Amino acid sequence: MDQHRSHNPNSTYQNPQSAYRRHKDTSGRNPCEIKRSRPNPHQYQSGPTPGQNPRSSQDLSTRRELYERDFPVYKQPVEDGYKDRYIKKDVTKKEKLDHILRWILANKSKLNSKVTAASSCALDSDFVTWRGHLTKLLTTPYETREGWLLAVTRFRGTLYISEVETEVAQRERENRTERHEEAMYWGYKFEQYTCADNVHSLPDPGGVVNTNEGFCTVVQTRLADHRLLFSGEVDCRDKDPNAPAAPACYVELKTSAEICTPKQRSNFHRFKLLKWWAQSFLPGVPRVVAGFKDEEGVVVTVDTFPISKISQLIKNEHNCWKPTVCMNFCCDFLSFVKQIATEDNPSVVYLFSWEPRRDVTFSVHRDSQYSFLPHWYVEVMTSSQDKHHQP
Ligand code: A3P
Ligand code: MG
Repeated sequence: MDQHRSHNPNSTYQNPQSAYRRHKDTSGRNPCEIKRSRPNPHQYQSGPTPGQNPRSSQDLSTRRELYERDFPVYKQPVEDGYKDRYIKKDVTKKEKLDHILRWILANKSKLNSKVTAASSCALDSDFVTWRGHLTKLLTTPYETREGWLLAVTRFRGTLYISEVETEVAQRERENRTERHEEAMYWGYKFEQYTCADNVHSLPDPGGVVNTNEGFCTVVQTRLADHRLLFSGEVDCRDKDPNAPAAPACYVELKTSAEICTPKQRSNFHRFKLLKWWAQSFLPGVPRVVAGFKDEEGVVVTVDTFPISKISQLIKNEHNCWKPTVCMNFCCDFLSFVKQIATEDNPSVVYLFSWEPRRDVTFSVHRDSQYSFLPHWYVEVMTSSQDKHHQP
């Protein structure tokens, strides 16, 4: 038996020697320069298919794009509808990469145009994942609280990355207080106040907040020499009919606590702006519109943060986060994954694990609870590749 790769799902091979380490760059030097620091995303729109249940269709989105409106600042009750007009997504159902995989099957012809008979990579992408997983990687060098687990499978030359909920995250989710649940609702309610269905209509604050609904975009881009294909939710688009094409017209909406003291401003720069930058930078979403809430959750001011200006905003903070450190970590981690996850097999999962102040470790699992590429995807991709390679 191969000592390093156990067939027993409960017994895993930890390889601390090979563990990947990337320290925070406190010297201001970049340990590894990103060759291409500004991604140049190729964007696919993913609107819903009329007359179908979009989540079960070939599409990623459950609604069309929404249009940004000016938020009416004065005393908007953000808790309104929490008890009676709130449909919460069931987050206990782990959907893994399924929506992206369905989208890939429906759009294969767009993705593998450059594939030659000699190529072993069916998608012309090194990695397929959710934007949120990449956001976690980007913020890892500065994360002090929450670890992560990422399952990776190599299939037909592409590495698929799907998050596994950690035990700590599961416990936190199950033990959320009512106040925390309500605060999460305020974020969605702000979206409802700020968005309209089309250019001519107005927001409908009396409507239902349904977190099952969302508009997703699919992006093909590069981070250094890594070709990425990922999808992420977009909140809304610029209301100006002459706004530039996607992703430059997209707007990320956020809420945050009102800033009243220099300490609060500093924390906002150090923690919130890091998260906001990391979420929007890779897909090329150019601005965040933020509603600042008072203690009762009432949005009292609204401000716009262009993503390209965030590094300027934080430059006076002592020992603050740096975009290059985030990109270098993400980039080096992806290189590490390429080096480790070498067996091209849809039922093999390389499980990468990270905890704050620790190195990344990994274990290998065969036909285990961690396998996440569904049969319907593997079958179609295998048969289309075989057809492609027939003489
Ligand atoms: P905020 O924008 O006020 O944080 P997003 O901004 O990513 O589009 O998410 C919309 C809202 O979903 C957030 O509003 C927040 O309320 C909730 N949300 C998103 N991710 C979350 C997470 N990891 N934990 C808790 N709430 C989350
Ligand atoms: Mg948002």
